[in-house]
Amino acid sequence: MSRIESPLYEKLISAFLRIARAVHLYADNNQAVVKACSEFREILARIMEEEPVSLQISDGHIYFMGQRLRIGPRAAVTAERLEDYLTGRGIFGIVWQPEALDIPAEQMVAFFRILARAGEHENPLNRIRESLDEKSISWVRVESQQDIKASLPETASDDGKTAGVSGNNGKSSASPKAKLWEKGRKSYGRTLSILKSIADKIISGKPAGVAKAMRQIQQIVDMIIADEEIMMGLSTLRDHDDYTYVHSMNVSILAIALGHFIGLSKQDLATLGLCGLFHDLGKVKVPLKILNKPGKLNAEEWKIMERHSLESVLEILKLKAPPELKARLLLPPFEHHLKYDLSGYPKFHRRSQVSLFGRILAIVDVYDAITSPRVYRKTSLSPDEALDLMSAGAGKDFDPLLLKAFVNLMGVYPVGTMVKMDSGEIGLVARRPGGRHLDRPRVRILISNGNGGFVPGKTVDLAERNGHARSFRRTVVETIHPGQLGIQPAAYLS
Ligand SMILES: [Fe+2]
Ligand SMILES: [Fe+2]
Repeated sequence: MSRIESPLYEKLISAFLRIARAVHLYADNNQAVVKACSEFREILARIMEEEPVSLQISDGHIYFMGQRLRIGPRAAVTAERLEDYLTGRGIFGIVWQPEALDIPAEQMVAFFRILARAGEHENPLNRIRESLDEKSISWVRVESQQDIKASLPETASDDGKTAGVSGNNGKSSASPKAKLWEKGRKSYGRTLSILKSIADKIISGKPAGVAKAMRQIQQIVDMIIADEEIMMGLSTLRDHDDYTYVHSMNVSILAIALGHFIGLSKQDLATLGLCGLFHDLGKVKVPLKILNKPGKLNAEEWKIMERHSLESVLEILKLKAPPELKARLLLPPFEHHLKYDLSGYPKFHRRSQVSLFGRILAIVDVYDAITSPRVYRKTSLSPDEALDLMSAGAGKDFDPLLLKAFVNLMGVYPVGTMVKMDSGEIGLVARRPGGRHLDRPRVRILISNGNGGFVPGKTVDLAERNGHARSFRRTVVETIHPGQLGIQPAAYLS
């Protein structure tokens, strides 16, 4: 199975979810559906040789072409959604035959339309099979749980047959720390899919509630209180396709971490986390061509973009939530671009200071945004560069005391920073410094796999010295942009 490149299955799953979502929201001939369909077909064609392409789910694991995937944080987000989508329809496997490459695009859309419609059906799997028969679709097959049991090995797992990115999840002998990572990843993925489903409901004009999101955020609060580095590590996840949602997740996590650092109560942290999750909800009203515009926005486009914080408030107002909770969710999203000196947007006459939650959101929002590569900005700042740049805005853009707290929380080299050391090794900051040397964190060494990628090596403490000598064994000489090497820090930190 050496022909399988690990990113391809991730691309297939993402493309599957994109077309499923587009079909759910729009008519067959809508541009979004047409585009998602052609992307899906293209990826299928890249994978397909003579053999069928299969995705299967068994005992909470995803199998791609019969191989169990080791799911890293990036894939965890999409894997969770795929599992929800398929098992919610009684589907545990989909197998595309090579003929799938020759069918017209409309037939592929028809297949996804069948899946979408079956979601409401009492016995979805039967309905899907009937519909496939009615339309004489034989280039794809859906499988039940029993079909899967018969076709997959009992325990195809940690025997070297797994495909995928890093991560030690799936191993039964996982350490307590690995279990915490697994829990964190699942929580991250679940919260992200809840946020997306809220946004989907808003787009299609259906009522959306906050109870599920609140439960997940409370779990994240508990995890940050127990071991903030895991969630902070996960907040280094970047995703071009789902930028706004992943960004909102990261803002939520970082806001909770900063709130915890300054001693807020658990209840306040949960409210703050929800504010982070919903702060950009109003972007569902900004046309994609403005949101993803490669060049600079013109004055008219800016006007639309600048409305998003107000739009977020209007959308939050429509959510089903207890009035006292809803009241606490309105102000911080409204304020997140106001700036500390009120010179930001929306423009209005106001003398009162930005609220504490608003000031926290302003800091973590900018930090996540400038450390994320975007469609229109391929390069991003490394975490330490971002903190440096933001320090120049203390007292103007940001509350100076809160910014100081944030810099202290993140350290000189925040978790997820990619560093080059004087030993010639490169690595990712995995944990904050244990001792008094704030510039000496613990670093996960990255080892080249010979194919332009990396595998995670041991974790070293930069405070470690050379035998009895006074010199340090390793010292950071520079930081590197993880994006330049195609690295998702979160995938290497567990
Ligand atoms: Fe925003
Ligand atoms: Fe934002």
